Amino acid sequence: MSERVAIVTGGASGIGKAIAEALADSGDQVVIADLNAAAGKELADIIGAHFVKTDLSQRTDCKRLVDETLAHYGALHILINNAGFQHIDPIEAFPEDMWDEMLHVMLTAPFLLTKYVWRTMKARGWGRIVNMSSIHGRVASPFKSAYITAKHGLIGFTRTAALEGGEHGITVNAVCPAYVRTPLVESQIADQARTRGISIEAVVEKVMLEPAAVKRLITPEEVAALVVYLCSDAAGAITGVDWAIDLGWTAR
Ligand SMILES: NC(=O)c1ccc[n+]([C@@H]2O[C@H](COP(=O)([O-])OP(=O)(O)OC[C@H]3O[C@@H](n4cnc5c(N)ncnc54)[C@H](O)[C@@H]3O)[C@@H](O)[C@H]2O)c1
Repeated sequence: MSERVAIVTGGASGIGKAIAEALADSGDQVVIADLNAAAGKELADIIGAHFVKTDLSQRTDCKRLVDETLAHYGALHILINNAGFQHIDPIEAFPEDMWDEMLHVMLTAPFLLTKYVWRTMKARGWGRIVNMSSIHGRVASPFKSAYITAKHGLIGFTRTAALEGGEHGITVNAVCPAYVRTPLVESQIADQARTRGISIEAVVEKVMLEPAAVKRLITPEEVAALVVYLCSDAAGAITGVDWAIDLGWTAR
């Protein structure tokens, strides 16, 4: 299929940026949706994408993103629900507003965007939705209660949407990376060092890579390559799956 149109949320940085670049490289028209207008516009200019400033914690912004994409390109084939962020605190100190915002951006927004793109994908009989969960959608770690709850929930939503999409040619999958070298992880390393009272080097070696068989961080491009495959025609039989890209973390 030529001239596919893809929305990538959180496309201004890290994994989303690598996905936007990889989809544009393979010939897709890309819409970058992000809170960060400066970085989003800069990337859009470089790769020939369209930028839509979007706050995914707002229902109206989710709707506007889909409406603007359809108005700009007249079609929509691919949705990558990638935006997310982390907050680390023990449950007793976890800010309640932060819980609400994290659940909204990482669980409710993927539901809303899926709902809003459904009609056009269904009418075409073809669609690809990839939800960026995490290895923390499959296993837990302390101090990340909202993130882990959202990412587990996103896998449940992925399976439900896959069952509803199958007869309409819409596949829905989740991708579950372990630690990827991005700005989100760089700041988390510092936060974990503070919360656990250990050095930055110890966080990487003893906390992040301790359960991994492959002792290195993942690159954003490795995650993007899996997403591009899941968006291909060749992956049409693959749906409802939570794809680990986790350095062997969950092999034991
Ligand atoms: N980096 C990792 O190790 C890792 C591992 C597993 C899963 N993930 C997931 O991958 C996704 C991308 O993470 P990343 O590491 O590239 O992070 P990142 O911080 O580099 O990029 C996240 C992007 O999301 C955007 N964003 C945040 N809140 C938003 C909102 N309310 N509305 C619109 N945009 C918003 C940010 O502006 C940023 O551009 C996240 O969902 C994250 O949970 C990351």
